Amino acid sequence: MTSEQSWNAKAYQANAGFVPVLGRAVLALLAPRPGECVLDLGCGDGALTQEIVEAGCEVVGVDHSQEMVAASRGCGIDARLMDAALLAFEAEFDAVFSNAVLHWVGDADAVIAGVARALKRGGRFVGEFGGHGNMAAVVTALAAVLARRGVDIAAVNPWFYPTPDDYRGRLETAGFSVDSIELIPRPTPLPTGMKGWLGTFAGPFYAALPEGERRAARDETLDLLRHSLCDSEGNWTADYVRLRFAARLPDRRAPR
Ligand code: BEZ
Repeated sequence: MTSEQSWNAKAYQANAGFVPVLGRAVLALLAPRPGECVLDLGCGDGALTQEIVEAGCEVVGVDHSQEMVAASRGCGIDARLMDAALLAFEAEFDAVFSNAVLHWVGDADAVIAGVARALKRGGRFVGEFGGHGNMAAVVTALAAVLARRGVDIAAVNPWFYPTPDDYRGRLETAGFSVDSIELIPRPTPLPTGMKGWLGTFAGPFYAALPEGERRAARDETLDLLRHSLCDSEGNWTADYVRLRFAARLPDRRAPR
């Protein structure tokens, strides 16, 4: 059984403030144009959403976390609480944008189908998330730490890291044509170290353990990772690999 990831806007900004900053590259791929209606799928605290608003777009943000929705609303964004796999929009948007979210949603096909429904004809779906090999050392260390305590990581791992071929196939099956899709290795310095990163993102793994064992399990994860992800001065770098893509729906209905 998987446990829900929980989100705290303040901790997210401290431990993962680089996520929206590094998301600017995928925002450039979106190339939002003034007057466009854009859905930000997984808007988080709204840091990148605001940049789409500043580009002159009408933006709706959706997020699965009530706390993140509140943080976005606090920045003046039209943010709504919604599950990415249950999008409730019909032909409303010129583009759907998503940064650092899609690896959290197990049912990728439901997400893509909802995005296709939400877009107008010719609409674009542009996004970036964890791709095949993302956080490989971290996942391996978590698997080892859990296995020592009798937990199979497969039962609790919420992360979906597809290959470009896998995700392209899913997009095409839903009627998108894919303009670009690639894996981008992106070693990322962690401002609060791996301890901060695990605290913000790895809750579902440790939640599988009795509360009294969690701290020791976290420390053991850090010990395993120190060899490959921490330098001699104590600086941690995460082994991120992004999957970045741009796809579009056909302009017109296919002739019968
Ligand atoms: C990512 O952005 O790749 C990521 C974030 C949190 C957990 C796992 C991956």
